[in-house]
Amino acid sequence: MSTVDLEAKIPNNVGLRDNKRLTMALEKWQPKFLDWWKGMGPTDFNEDQVYLRTAVGVGQGGWAHFDYVKMPDYRWGIFLADGPEDRKIHFGDQLGEKAWQTVPGEFRNRLRRLIVTQGDTEPASVEQQRMLGHCCPSLYDLRSLFQVNVEEGRHLWAMVYLLHTHFGADGREEAEAMLDRHSGDQDNPRILEAFNYPIDNWLDFFCFTTFTDRDGKYQLASLAESSFDPLARTTQFMLTEEAYHMQTGENGVGRIAHRTAELMKEGKDPAQEGAIPLPLMQRYINHWFSASMDLFGGEDSTNAAESFAGGLKGRYREGDGIYKDPKALEQSYTHELPTDDGKVEEKDIPLRRAMNAVLLDAYIADCKRIVARWNRDLKTHNCDFQFVLPDHKFNRHQGVYSGFRFSPAGEPIDEAAWTHHHGQWLPTQEDRDYVKSCMVRVTEPGKFANYIAPPSKGPNDQPIDF
Ligand SMILES: [Fe+2]
Ligand SMILES: [Fe+2]
Repeated sequence: MSTVDLEAKIPNNVGLRDNKRLTMALEKWQPKFLDWWKGMGPTDFNEDQVYLRTAVGVGQGGWAHFDYVKMPDYRWGIFLADGPEDRKIHFGDQLGEKAWQTVPGEFRNRLRRLIVTQGDTEPASVEQQRMLGHCCPSLYDLRSLFQVNVEEGRHLWAMVYLLHTHFGADGREEAEAMLDRHSGDQDNPRILEAFNYPIDNWLDFFCFTTFTDRDGKYQLASLAESSFDPLARTTQFMLTEEAYHMQTGENGVGRIAHRTAELMKEGKDPAQEGAIPLPLMQRYINHWFSASMDLFGGEDSTNAAESFAGGLKGRYREGDGIYKDPKALEQSYTHELPTDDGKVEEKDIPLRRAMNAVLLDAYIADCKRIVARWNRDLKTHNCDFQFVLPDHKFNRHQGVYSGFRFSPAGEPIDEAAWTHHHGQWLPTQEDRDYVKSCMVRVTEPGKFANYIAPPSKGPNDQPIDF
């Protein structure tokens, strides 16, 4: 069990005290991070005391501590989950060999790429969400937002730690670049497209935390299987924080739908009450779900095959022994491929090449469960509207379906049909303007904007008006 050093300038359980060079390098990066936080983090709230959860250890149960803190004083730390010392590689070509504590030369570039791509999303989402505090629907939600923001900041620390520790001068350069790229920047944007979309209303925020943070969960889960042990243990611990982000989203969308259904039950028109009509919510779901699927990369990918073969990225819960063939050499994966004459045909590809698609399938199944939960709640209000997750081929800009048009039901359609209908399927400017008009700021404890129902309980089991 690793010891946790909470007194250090950078709280950690990675023995920074015994590694002067690394400590110096990280302490040099720390003020740059703080400058970035103050410049690009949540605007205008740096002086406020916020009730926040801070990671203080990695043990089951008692890993987090709640207290009031000014966000720039938040104790961003470096924590790796504990793991067995003699861990063995459990998938890919090197199955059964010892897991690596240092980066093998042959995988150096590929691992660095994986870590940088993951790391880049963390500060990106903080930047995307920086204006949201100004139109919070309640104090409860404002606190949740800041909780998510500071933890994304900690996730950046987690990736920067790996870069500094294992990738020498290149790693230090990459760590700097994480603070130089900015979400939506014309010249120097964030690496992945969904992290360049602005999030300036709370419907976007809750859809983002439901669907895009959930992509994060699956990417982290696949890295948590990695043969590079420090990466596996870092990402395992990040997943414990990630759960809260997804819950924030799932509950947030659910509470907005709940409020709309409540108003409809009272015979009111949600659009006259500053609430969000359900068909409009459906279009936001379509947008964020399809944009998040794009983050998984190509469904047929030699890159994915090589990451699996090398033991860098496993399947979801690979270590739980749920897959028959840990080398994934025997099987194939059947998927739908669009053809030039506007049809779709099924084709088999070797399983290793389909690793992104396999991970995406696990993600889609998870999203379906969430939507079913929202729908059950709508039913309890005698509401006959039900949300539907669009087909995985709809509105894709990455992978085998990009460049082809599909309806939300997954039917191939031509360009004319797309032009005619896409305003019913994806948020329109009118939708965005309307949602914006609903974003009233409410900060009286226990009160909520009219478009969102209160949560079932407050933060850390406190009362709702906490
Ligand atoms: Fe994160
Ligand atoms: Fe997250």
